[in-house]
Amino acid sequence: MDKLKLGVLISGRGSNLQALIDACAAADYPAEIVLVVSNRPDAMGLERAQAAGIATRIIEHTNYGDRESFDRDVDAALRDAGAQLICLAGFMRLLSRWFVEEWPDRIVNIHPSLLPAFKGTDSHAQALATGVKLTGCTVHFVRSEMDAGPIIMQAAVPVLPGDTEDSLAARVLTAEHQCYPTAIRLIAEGRVTVEDNRAINTDGNMAARPLYNPPAD
Ligand code: GRF
Repeated sequence: MDKLKLGVLISGRGSNLQALIDACAAADYPAEIVLVVSNRPDAMGLERAQAAGIATRIIEHTNYGDRESFDRDVDAALRDAGAQLICLAGFMRLLSRWFVEEWPDRIVNIHPSLLPAFKGTDSHAQALATGVKLTGCTVHFVRSEMDAGPIIMQAAVPVLPGDTEDSLAARVLTAEHQCYPTAIRLIAEGRVTVEDNRAINTDGNMAARPLYNPPAD
């Protein structure tokens, strides 16, 4: 079976990109990365891509007067590379409505909270300030509104007494690195459909029990 061709957009560290690179290294993984695009020339993720022999492009948003002309060049680079699904992995730019509509249900993002809670760039600070006992991460299809769109997969992660933003971010990041390749696998295998702006996955293999924090026993 042909592998789903991924274009990955990054702005920085690229640890989620690395999780995808590692997953794609397995012969039976149903996707491959054809291009990594960074809007920042100093993104560490570019080195990760190059080390894995993946094509990279730097498209600096600072060279563009408006969002849509930047988005048009990103779109052209992805199409030239033959990308079929776009994965945002720590990409710190909002995409224009034009771009999102060019790729209907073909853009996914990973966000470090249980959406729709704690949108934006300070999810962990919001979780700590609010006192939630469970937070986590979400993989979702992208809409032009920030951190919105049909939810494909979530992982719940406990918030522990004494957590700092850093300790919580590290715990959530471990879950992100599991979720992103798993969600992409589900999409690549045709196991996710979007109906009424909700993503449906019919595997039904989640244990039907609640998660408790603190423990209920
Ligand atoms: C991750 O926490 C991701 O959920 C968020 O930005 C961070 C990117 O980290 N969107 P990395 O660049 O993948 O290491």
